Amino acid sequence: MNHDLAKMRVGKEAARYLEDGMVIGLGTGSTTAYAIAEIGKRVRNESLQIRGIPTSSSAEINARKNGISICTFDDIDDRLDLAFDGADEVSPDLNLIKGRGAAHTLEKLVASQARRFVVLVDQSKMVDNLGVTAPVPIEVIPSAASVILRQLQTLGATASIRYGVRKDGPVVTDLGFWIIDADFGPISNPSQLSHTLLEIPGVLDHGIFFGLTTEVIVGAESGIEVIQNG
Ligand code: A5P
Repeated sequence: MNHDLAKMRVGKEAARYLEDGMVIGLGTGSTTAYAIAEIGKRVRNESLQIRGIPTSSSAEINARKNGISICTFDDIDDRLDLAFDGADEVSPDLNLIKGRGAAHTLEKLVASQARRFVVLVDQSKMVDNLGVTAPVPIEVIPSAASVILRQLQTLGATASIRYGVRKDGPVVTDLGFWIIDADFGPISNPSQLSHTLLEIPGVLDHGIFFGLTTEVIVGAESGIEVIQNG
């Protein structure tokens, strides 16, 4: 499959959701980057008044490059009209694993504040069961990392601290924390695992997104499919 073509199609479709005056969440990753570029085109061509809350420094850079105004939660007094974001896995009931880009804590905050949370993926992200292709990223306080690694082991996970590429040492997130990638194998009860992980002291948030997705735009070479939740 030509992933770039599929992602481009998804980005174009996502930009069609835009209406003048909206405040939108801007996700992280290569698929959402296509959407941000298409949104930028509409903002320029149609002089739309759109403001975006980015989920990462990467999303913010992309948004500014494409002429989208940035705002924060302090600038708005209501929920976001909609939020777009990618995913690393999407289950048949539209639950997700996110966080390959180490941005899942802000991504979850933004998704939780959106009236519509629209997930943008190519077909390769659709799985029968969460956990089969992607580990669960967990953002942790650095000084708690070794304690958390031991606890994850007792929960049956194979877990390790994420190390940088072209950077020595652990990946440091936009928020100043570290990432542990925990492989649980196929996850039978994502809601329960989500709660269990959040109870571990030193965990900021993890990449299981349960019950947040409104719809998924899935791209393939042949076209796109929109899957609505419920
Ligand atoms: C970022 O932390 C992730 O949650 C991304 O949204 C995810 O990795 C999607 O990236 P791609 O669209 O590049 O696959």
